[in-house]
Amino acid sequence: MKKTVRDIDVSGKRVIVRCDFNVPMKEGKITDDTRITAALPTIKYLVENNAKVIIMSHMGRPKGRPNMEFTLKPVAVRLSELIGQDVKFNSSESVVDDEIKKVVSKLKDGEVMLLENTRFRKEETDNDEEFSKELASLADIFVNDAFGTAHRAHASTAGIAAYLPSVSGFLIENEIKYLGQAVENPKRPLLAIMGGAKVGDKILLIKNLLSKVDSLIIGGGMAYTFIKAQRYEIGKSLLDADNIELAKELMELAKKNNVKMLIPVDTACAKEFSNDSEKKTVDITDIPADMMGMDIGDKTVALFEEEIAKANTIVWNGPMGVFEMPNFENGTRKIAEALAKSDAITIIGGGDSAAAVNQFGLSDKMTHISTGGGASMEYLEGKVLPGIDVLLDA
Ligand code: 3PG
Repeated sequence: MKKTVRDIDVSGKRVIVRCDFNVPMKEGKITDDTRITAALPTIKYLVENNAKVIIMSHMGRPKGRPNMEFTLKPVAVRLSELIGQDVKFNSSESVVDDEIKKVVSKLKDGEVMLLENTRFRKEETDNDEEFSKELASLADIFVNDAFGTAHRAHASTAGIAAYLPSVSGFLIENEIKYLGQAVENPKRPLLAIMGGAKVGDKILLIKNLLSKVDSLIIGGGMAYTFIKAQRYEIGKSLLDADNIELAKELMELAKKNNVKMLIPVDTACAKEFSNDSEKKTVDITDIPADMMGMDIGDKTVALFEEEIAKANTIVWNGPMGVFEMPNFENGTRKIAEALAKSDAITIIGGGDSAAAVNQFGLSDKMTHISTGGGASMEYLEGKVLPGIDVLLDA
């Protein structure tokens, strides 16, 4: 357990808050502000409790150099609208400079400012001591609420904590609560649904979950490596050739741990990786040599739905197929709908599964949608996240 903003007196103090405002942008406009709205409870709490609020975040990967394509200006504008008060923003190529220090020194209780993209400085991702001190010098207290970046040991997520009393915000508190409970103390049966492209990317996650779950569903691109491991031909489907043996080992481990493991029994195939390609649904024993699996088939959907209906806690990470293409979204949509209908505690790992649930308009039907892609995965893998580790213990 970590201390939170509730455990520390913030009134009249300068509080520097790390948020993850790495939001998707198109032509200078924010296309999804979920990560900003998710940070509002902490920001509003600090404002209401008379703190002087200095917010920092990264955006994209500007490679340690100032690049206005990645400025946080649009975020300052959106945040002002959302909290209904001015958010001071002075773009600075060095993130902290004399002008910024002046703005900080003039901040009144309850006022909010946002620093420029911390990744405009190379020292950010180097977790540089001097830059950490520079950031810390602006404030009296550090609050980390950037769950999406908590798996990075950077100056603004970890380094800074060496110089200030450091606590978590409500967003991180919530993420730990839901993700932690799901794997440590779940209401059983616990079901994990894994999807996405490569087994290789999720080895640790699947291994860790196999010691915790009652059943495990494998779908999406990675399922074809498991199908291949069972000696079926998979045509042109995605194959993680280096990990066929590993897929076998994972199936063995599931058996050993008494975990029911379900893989697809049929698949919607296409000739080309294109929405308009010729399409055909076949059993996994009959995948044509010139076709590739793009989505799970109806028999698989029914099989997975049955398992979902039995679970009391469900963790979902990774889509069932190429849900970005309307002709191959069915499997992912049906699984999202089954979760939405279920009375179980439903936890959606960030990234693609969160995007899918959003796309189908089902977000408000889930118990918790993580704001972290990589971070939620590493947390569920059982890894220590540096941005959380550095915070004061409760
Ligand atoms: C994310 O979107 O996963 C986080 O903001 C972290 O970004 P990064 O992968 O560039 O560190």
